[in-house]
Amino acid sequence: MQPIVSISDVSKTYATGFEALKHVTLDIHKGEIFALLGPNGAGKTTLISIICGIVRASTGRVIADGHDIIGEYRQARFKIGLVPQELTTDAFETVWATVTHSRGLFGRSSNPAYIEKVLKDLSLWDKKDSKIMTLSGGMKRRVMIAKALSHEPTILFLDEPTAGVDVELRRDMWNLVRSLRESGVTIILTTHYIDEAEEMADRVGVINKGEIILVEEKKALMRKLGKKEITLELAKALDRIPDALAHHKLDLSADGHELTYSYDTQGERTGITTLLHDLAEAGIRFRDLNTKQSSLEEIFVNLVRERS
Ligand SMILES: Nc1ncnc2c1ncn2[C@@H]1O[C@H](COP(=O)(O)OP(=O)(O)OP(=O)(O)O)[C@@H](O)[C@H]1O
Ligand SMILES: [Mg+2]
Repeated sequence: MQPIVSISDVSKTYATGFEALKHVTLDIHKGEIFALLGPNGAGKTTLISIICGIVRASTGRVIADGHDIIGEYRQARFKIGLVPQELTTDAFETVWATVTHSRGLFGRSSNPAYIEKVLKDLSLWDKKDSKIMTLSGGMKRRVMIAKALSHEPTILFLDEPTAGVDVELRRDMWNLVRSLRESGVTIILTTHYIDEAEEMADRVGVINKGEIILVEEKKALMRKLGKKEITLELAKALDRIPDALAHHKLDLSADGHELTYSYDTQGERTGITTLLHDLAEAGIRFRDLNTKQSSLEEIFVNLVRERS
């Protein structure tokens, strides 16, 4: 697939001497939704700010829709919409004025019909004449999105788009992001909400301490790292796992009432049949059995933990 954003060997050391990004190389495919996941301070905002030309990389280069973000800043920036993590809006302006003004900054000729559509899509139309200071936090965030879309960018960055947004509005935003993708916009979002990435992303990148530690198709990631677990509720508590069962990878709960067996969903054999057979042989009976598939959240937490 053709990359629409190409990041090559980007590192960033801030003036404080802090190394926020280390040799980041990453291609974003045209038309995808890419979710960048990482704990606080991992470097997500720094990376986005570099791609958008707000922060200068110490080394490396970024090409956005064919333009070098430094050498051809204006052309590159024209293609990009950015919804920053921090809300920055002009409190005294109306919604309509601020969004229209934003479009003008990019040198686009006015297009009231387009702005109207954006505001309607974001359920802001009835607020178009309201001053921004009179809006709720969630509405302000939507105004930020409207501003970012005002000049019809082909690449949209959403830095924590749903932080502090209620459940219903999150759903609306997800739908909006999907419809933007359908209209051909490439979307890169950062999020702390793993379910958001799980729900939305085509691909997921994990960043930790300034390094990209994994980039994968979301589905492949879930398949590859996803483990399934069976928990057996025992009829009688065990003191320890009997030797006859030692070769199965089992965990016994502290109270001795539950045996947990994990298996790889990719594995050729799950080993469940032999396990059940061996349990019967050992005279261990169970009352109930539960299965569970690990979520993207668990995969992510494990990944980050392994590296720290
Ligand atoms: N202007 C700056 N000067 C010095 N250090 C900075 C500056 N901006 C960010 N940092 C540091 O760089 C690291 C990465 O910050 P960044 O904002 O990119 O993280 P993040 O992944 O977006 O985190 P969060 O999830 O909290 O938004 C942090 O340790 C931060 O303190
Ligand atoms: Mg951030």
